[in-house]
Amino acid sequence: MNTEEKIDEAIRNPKNLGEMAEADAIGTAGSSDCGDMLRMWIKFRNEDGRRVIDKATFQSFGCQTAIAVASMATELIKGKTPSEALAMSNEDLSAPLGALPPMKIHCAQLVEGALKNALTGEVAAPKAVSSNLSDSLQAPKSVKIKFT
Ligand code: FES
Repeated sequence: MNTEEKIDEAIRNPKNLGEMAEADAIGTAGSSDCGDMLRMWIKFRNEDGRRVIDKATFQSFGCQTAIAVASMATELIKGKTPSEALAMSNEDLSAPLGALPPMKIHCAQLVEGALKNALTGEVAAPKAVSSNLSDSLQAPKSVKIKFT
């Protein structure tokens, strides 16, 4: 199966799609290339005294590649410590799809940005902050990462 077919398959049945009500961390990233946005929610658990990622979900107003990469990435980071997940590059996160064409690399960077924002921001899911991506798109101060 080539990369395009793998992306098609991933978006037919995306994993971990949707908001997570009890998330421990939330990260949002926007691409200056295309204006797409992606948000990731992360829940941790303790495993043998280490804090590891129990589960992650995402929501995207993005292209199909970003959705496919986020679907893969939210599976790949399960069981990893925050520093292990932070060490993953966008190539690592999209590896199950195969090499992305150059014009689609920023789609994987969008996923990486949302993940890193979640893990470095360490923002507990506050009730006062919107956890809905469409709300935050309208909010004036949504967090954006610029990719150059
Ligand atoms: Fe911009 Fe894919 S085209 S995230």
